[in-house]
Amino acid sequence: MTNVPTHVAIIMDGNGRWAKERNMPRTYGHKKGSENLKKLSFYIFDQGIKYLSVYCFSTENFNRPQEEVDYLMNLFVEKFQTEFSEYKKKNIRVVFSGRRENLRADVLKAMDTITEETKENTRATLNLCLNYGGQYEVIDAMKKIIQENIAIEKITPQDLYHYMYQDLPPVDFVIRTSGEKRLSNFMLYQSSYAEFYFPETYFPAFDEKEFDKALDIYLHRDRRFGNIKEK
Ligand code: FPP
Repeated sequence: MTNVPTHVAIIMDGNGRWAKERNMPRTYGHKKGSENLKKLSFYIFDQGIKYLSVYCFSTENFNRPQEEVDYLMNLFVEKFQTEFSEYKKKNIRVVFSGRRENLRADVLKAMDTITEETKENTRATLNLCLNYGGQYEVIDAMKKIIQENIAIEKITPQDLYHYMYQDLPPVDFVIRTSGEKRLSNFMLYQSSYAEFYFPETYFPAFDEKEFDKALDIYLHRDRRFGNIKEK
């Protein structure tokens, strides 16, 4: 399909509320959310979209009850060690954005293994934002620039991408499920010219049909990048 976005970013919100509506614990919502992510990401890559970034765990999510944090960390390890081999088979590269500090050794190991196993893959890239904060990302980019003694006056907005956690193209389309209309510190720099869409659907229910609707909305947006409207 022509004109599909190059880079889609999803804030996977509403797992807890989805579970609550079903009288289930919040953790069940995360489990269903993770199952949906797998299915949906393959569908998104099948549409010709080359980069998908997803918000898995923010730096602030460590303030949630320990039980929920532990559940999510265990879920990450389990999925990376098992089902993520499907990304390898499908020629999809898996990368991570976020701070490594505060993450458990087994989580880091599972992240590093899947990164290593998929690093030569070329069809598309899945960027998992884990222990991620957009403001920290800019700070960490600044640290790299200082450490590498880069002449700051020569840095262009495009150059800064190179110092982010991952050197990915700008985000074209941000989707936040569950009706919340906030960016919550997600890919602040990369979303400078992105289109935004806030469906009411909770993430575990945000399926292929919902994505088709989202993509249709994106394709009808008039992107100007600060320029005047073409006649
Ligand atoms: C926000 O919904 C969601 C999260 C903090 C976790 C997102 C994680 C996943 C979807 C699992 C990803 C799994 C892998 C293996 C990468 P919420 O819990 O804040 O929902 P609520 O606002 O309804 O409470």
